[in-house]
Amino acid sequence: MERKGIPEFVNREREIKELKELLSGRPNLVYFLYGPINSGKTALLTKVFEELSDDYRVFYVNFRGFEGGYRKFTRVFFELGDKTLWEKIKSNMPVVAAAVEYVERIAKKVNTSIELPAEVIRMLQIGDDDDDHEKIDVFHYLERVMERFVERDKRPVFVLDEMQILKGELNAAGQPLLGRLFNFMVRLTKERHLCHCLCATSDCLFIENVYSNARLEGRVRYLLIDDLAQEEAFNMYNNFGFEKKSFIWDYIGGKIGDMVILYEWKKQGYEEEKSLEEMLKSDLGKLRMIEGDIFERHGKEGEELWGFLKNFKDFNVRYADLRKEKRYLSFWIEENVLFYNPAEGTVRPQSRLIQRAIEELF
Ligand SMILES: Nc1ncnc2c1ncn2[C@@H]1O[C@H](COP(=O)(O)OP(=O)(O)O)[C@@H](O)[C@H]1O
Ligand SMILES: [Mg+2]
Repeated sequence: MERKGIPEFVNREREIKELKELLSGRPNLVYFLYGPINSGKTALLTKVFEELSDDYRVFYVNFRGFEGGYRKFTRVFFELGDKTLWEKIKSNMPVVAAAVEYVERIAKKVNTSIELPAEVIRMLQIGDDDDDHEKIDVFHYLERVMERFVERDKRPVFVLDEMQILKGELNAAGQPLLGRLFNFMVRLTKERHLCHCLCATSDCLFIENVYSNARLEGRVRYLLIDDLAQEEAFNMYNNFGFEKKSFIWDYIGGKIGDMVILYEWKKQGYEEEKSLEEMLKSDLGKLRMIEGDIFERHGKEGEELWGFLKNFKDFNVRYADLRKEKRYLSFWIEENVLFYNPAEGTVRPQSRLIQRAIEELF
């Protein structure tokens, strides 16, 4: 039988429309795009960027793979640019203004980092060396860049993906980086209305750990990008050419990322049942690895921490009493085993597959 090609991008019409609408309005809030891992947050953002008109200037920064440290943090934003262009611009204006003009000239509709000459990047890495360079504050500089785009009738959009990875990171002065980044985004939106700010993450607990709810109020909006509901999922199964739909649903539910994996297995000639068993085994392996780690690192208390997972044997459990068990919950959320929904104040397994694995283990 001829197999269908992998669907490039399907569904999510409602979310695409909503995002495009909010990006066309006046910047006013910081948006948190949240949802369980592999639900399609990054894919959705990419799709929306493609569909934006040419007057947008998207700066999309993904912290996946970021290893920590303030210098590396600035390096995630900036990339080496064109030296000759820089020399030309710099000759008749102050360095910050020149660096702003440089970005304006070089920016495309969608940018995964900001290109700058080495000289300016060095100035932006405030801190841990003592050279005599003039220093530029990263956030001040970025604000000037956004200002410039607005003056030129462009619509800047600032996007941070996998934002939770910055949790615990400090800047050169020892301040929490996330706090500064967040204040920066509030300034760009609520105060100055300069550019839209979107943050994507599958771990929302960190947001509330860093900022009290009171400080978040009126400044952020949460947008859930969830796994698909059954009807939509079955449509998607059709697109992938899956056959035993109810059977598949009981393993992977509406998680698009898992559908992609199942599709890959099938493409290699494996039966659906066999593929799903392999996927389950892989999640079981992941949990057993964590189990080993827990007992090594947490000793006696490890037993309770591990046993806590038992609460999630049933996929329909909504674990709402966060305060009481916060420490355990945080651990499993950080391990990407549990997913916290800040809008509902609920917790559930990150995927149906993980829930099945938990069921098998307890
Ligand atoms: N709407 C979609 N149509 C087709 N494939 C999708 C869709 N959404 C996500 N995917 C695929 O599923 C996988 C996981 O999606 P991703 O965007 O990385 O999830 P997240 O960012 O939420 O963790 C990727 O391989 C992605 O290409
Ligand atoms: Mg992602």
